[in-house]
Amino acid sequence: MNVSQAISARRSIRKFHDTPVARELIEQVLQAACLAPSGKNRQPWHFTVLQGAKKDTLVDAIEAAAAQNMTELELQASGALRTTKVMREAPVCIYVHNPQFALQGEHSKADNYRMRVDTQSVGAAIQNMLLRAEELGLGTLWICNVFYAEREIAAFLGRTDMLIAAVAIGYADESPAARPRKPLSEVTTWLE
Ligand SMILES: Cc1cc2nc3c(=O)[nH]c(=O)nc-3n(C[C@H](O)[C@H](O)[C@H](O)COP(=O)(O)O)c2cc1C
Repeated sequence: MNVSQAISARRSIRKFHDTPVARELIEQVLQAACLAPSGKNRQPWHFTVLQGAKKDTLVDAIEAAAAQNMTELELQASGALRTTKVMREAPVCIYVHNPQFALQGEHSKADNYRMRVDTQSVGAAIQNMLLRAEELGLGTLWICNVFYAEREIAAFLGRTDMLIAAVAIGYADESPAARPRKPLSEVTTWLE
């Protein structure tokens, strides 16, 4: 599979088999993440791999936080519980943090600038994970619908840095059709 095939074939997967994923495959996915470019080569990423009971206990805590931190209406609208259901089903959840920024605290203008750079770097790393996983025959879901539980996640993982995303990984139990994309003409301006 070449890069363009992986880009075209990748889908967000929300149904997984319970077949475990070999550690060696997860390591290959994380190696791909680490090859991503990053601003000033800061490599502002840290990956926490959760499987089995640890993964599920954290999903329980995230669900409890959803109930506690959101009104019923927000909960319905957010799709939070749909996402935690996926995290429960997937055999692996990888939490991605930026160790260069604290979870809490004031941010200066310079910090904000650096945060924008770092966010792109971590995004590139996550996309590399998704594409390498695709090549290895694994399905993935990029997840941000966990920020409402960032304190609970920090406490569980013993981390004090900034949560950027989670990625669910496993063997796909669905083959969704390609989701629609805006036409290039709508998202591009050519000037000459
Ligand atoms: C930054 C980011 C955050 C996302 N967060 C979630 C999430 O929390 N829950 C979820 O089900 N999907 C999430 N997605 C997946 C998107 O819904 C999905 O990429 C989009 O609908 C396009 O579908 P496709 O990935 O199959 O092309 C996220 C994707 C990105 C890039």
